[in-house]
Amino acid sequence: MKVLGVESSCDETGVAVVEATPTGVPKLRAHALHSQIDMHQAYGGVVPELASRDHIRRVVPLTRQVLAEAGVDLAEIDVVAFTRGPGLAGALLVGAGVACSLAAALGKPVFGVHHLEGHLLSPFLASDPPEFPFVALLVSGGHTQLMRVDDVGQYELLGESIDDAAGEAFDKSAKLLGLGYPGGPVLARLAAFGDASAYSLPRPLLHSGNLDFSFAGLKTAVRTQVLKLGTNVCEQDKANIAAATQEAIVDVLVRKSIAALKQTGLRRLVVAGGVGANTMLREQLNAQCAKRQVRVHYPELALCTDNGAMIALAAAMRLQRGAVPGFDQGFDVRPRW
Ligand code: KG4
Ligand code: ZN
Repeated sequence: MKVLGVESSCDETGVAVVEATPTGVPKLRAHALHSQIDMHQAYGGVVPELASRDHIRRVVPLTRQVLAEAGVDLAEIDVVAFTRGPGLAGALLVGAGVACSLAAALGKPVFGVHHLEGHLLSPFLASDPPEFPFVALLVSGGHTQLMRVDDVGQYELLGESIDDAAGEAFDKSAKLLGLGYPGGPVLARLAAFGDASAYSLPRPLLHSGNLDFSFAGLKTAVRTQVLKLGTNVCEQDKANIAAATQEAIVDVLVRKSIAALKQTGLRRLVVAGGVGANTMLREQLNAQCAKRQVRVHYPELALCTDNGAMIALAAAMRLQRGAVPGFDQGFDVRPRW
């Protein structure tokens, strides 16, 4: 079974072909990605209308490129998968429209994928894929969740952010510091030059006794510090605040992940989503997990942020376990799924 997957939920157009294997872990044949970051940078964030228009421009050429790289003819595709949600409605509609049109023209079924399930399963494309069950830390721009994962589709939510997501905390703090978009990578780069101990930032819900997160207070604390410094702010102040912000976010993510491992008694942790690309988060999780004989799995760095490979993969893994693709799911996108 060959699955073509299309991702267009936000500011990356991703297309991929995966092929099911007898092991139950599909193989990636090829993937291609176009990031709109440069286009949105001037506005300090994603402009939904521009995102939709750019997906329209990119998706067909990327599909052609991926099929050529995979050495697969369109007629050989068995199922066309797309991101059904959550995401920007107009952006999702582009991927859904193209996927459903292609499928209809080919007489093949379509399969709508939950974007977060794509992230969650993306480490299965790594050279050392995890085994079930595991604890998953899902950290993206819109979500921060800890989950117990027993199998594909068997997810138990252990805790989540009650306000901002971890990626959002990175992005909003970076904006307050006048850094570029997306904030996570730029803030992390600047933090390398800063002294985190120069500022004491809050770690809300750290001792709440549950696995929920809260990052809105952190953003407020960053704003307060930035306002206090006013026009006197120098590059070193900015680097120090960036370092303290990153440390606060990473500290909470690591401690809650360890608490989730303790609570479930599991010895495997999977980290997925854009913030999973953060070097400090990886280093600290690796160190804490090594102490506890816990194995940590990450997606390949290039597949941490949005991509088509994870969407094709999630569809193939679901279909291999009995999910049935449809012919009538058309434009049923779910922006707030
Ligand atoms: O998973 P993703 O690509 O998109 C969503 O589904 O949201 O995640 C994007 C988020 C953004 O908030 C971005 O700032 C953050 O991931 N991010 C990072 C890093 N790379 C991306 N945050 C911290 N450190 C990074 N290196
Ligand atoms: Zn994402």
